Amino acid sequence: MFNPEELKQDFPILSRQINGQSLVYLDNAATSQKPQVVIDAISHYYQTSNANVHRGVHALSDESTKLWETSRATIATFFGANPGELILTRNTTEAINGVAYGWADHHLSASDVILTTPMEHHSDLVVWQQVCQRTGAELRFLEVDETGRLKIEQLEEIFAHSDIKLISLGLVSNTLGTRNPVEKIVKIARKLRPEVKILLDGAQAAPHLPLDFHELDCDFFAFSGHKMLGPMGIGGLLVKQDLLESKAFQPWLFGGGMIATVEREKTEFAEDLADRFTAGTPDVASTVGLAAACRYLQQLGMKEVAQHDQELVQYALEKLTQISEVTLIGPVYALPAQPLDRVGSVAFIYQGVHAHDVAQILDSQGVAVRSGHHCTMPLHTQFNWQATVRASFQVYNSQADIDKLVAALAKVKAVFGI
Ligand SMILES: Cc1ncc(COP(=O)(O)O)c(C=O)c1O
Repeated sequence: MFNPEELKQDFPILSRQINGQSLVYLDNAATSQKPQVVIDAISHYYQTSNANVHRGVHALSDESTKLWETSRATIATFFGANPGELILTRNTTEAINGVAYGWADHHLSASDVILTTPMEHHSDLVVWQQVCQRTGAELRFLEVDETGRLKIEQLEEIFAHSDIKLISLGLVSNTLGTRNPVEKIVKIARKLRPEVKILLDGAQAAPHLPLDFHELDCDFFAFSGHKMLGPMGIGGLLVKQDLLESKAFQPWLFGGGMIATVEREKTEFAEDLADRFTAGTPDVASTVGLAAACRYLQQLGMKEVAQHDQELVQYALEKLTQISEVTLIGPVYALPAQPLDRVGSVAFIYQGVHAHDVAQILDSQGVAVRSGHHCTMPLHTQFNWQATVRASFQVYNSQADIDKLVAALAKVKAVFGI
């Protein structure tokens, strides 16, 4: 098992002082920090191999193309997918939009239903609202209970009364931390309606859990590189091979690089899947950087990464529960005979103090957390939370960081005299 305090040495930014204090970075669900190996991979690419891919015969172009292709393969393999199943995007948001334009717009019409949940990040909600406006399809919700869990027992009933064509939900909620029972949902959905398509928003799962795209048995899986130690501006969409081969899933960005032949009036798109979905010049440097992040995580071992995360989550829950002014949101206790279904973060309300004020006081002590609605406004509205404070973790966080968070929270009490 790795030692998070030792890992901190790999992340140059973590040696910074903020407001005269050593930085305690607990805003990883928004974006993670980057290890030196990722920073080096990007600058090494620009120093030694920069050239446009595919369209050149010269040595540098060939080298750049090979780097791009091997990096794509590393990223796909990290998720247990074939390189042909990976479409590189800028982030999760772009990946979900890709499913909207590349699949939903072609296959949905009035009376079709998209099923999602109220705990989705806006990226996995606003996109579907727009699809419904364009196609006439309807949006329905699998509701969330008071403990922050999906009311999965309602699923069969919802299927019985709606023509569900697409289910789109997060594997892990960025606000509640809930690790949703997607395996059960996929199984029930496939049994009740084999042709239903399932998209998993993996933005908050990819950084923490060992994942296998084929085992998950979803049709689409979206993720962001910047939340899993990689650079900003690179992420991906995994798409089931048969949807690509049957061309049921189509390119949604058009231009150079993704073509086989172009005539004045029409175009044949490239058969090669990586090419067909890469319109324009790809971000090779960020792809190389994300591959370096995948290798870094693989060296730590994703099982160990998940175990470390579980220890931090449990420790944070235990410590925060002891503060009487703190009300935790999301799963706090495990369901009988199950591991705690919470990953990556703990969010809470500090009674009587606005979340932004809490975050500001924590910042004055070097502790970086996020405050606000975390891009889940409908969830906040449903539970009447004006705003919440979220501490979220990465491999370099330790129990000592959580102790510092708890100590910094004592200052909130002192300042507000609560
Ligand atoms: C669950 C979830 N989905 C989607 C996103 C959007 O990710 P990005 O901004 O990288 O596209 C986030 C970002 O926080 C998220 O937490």
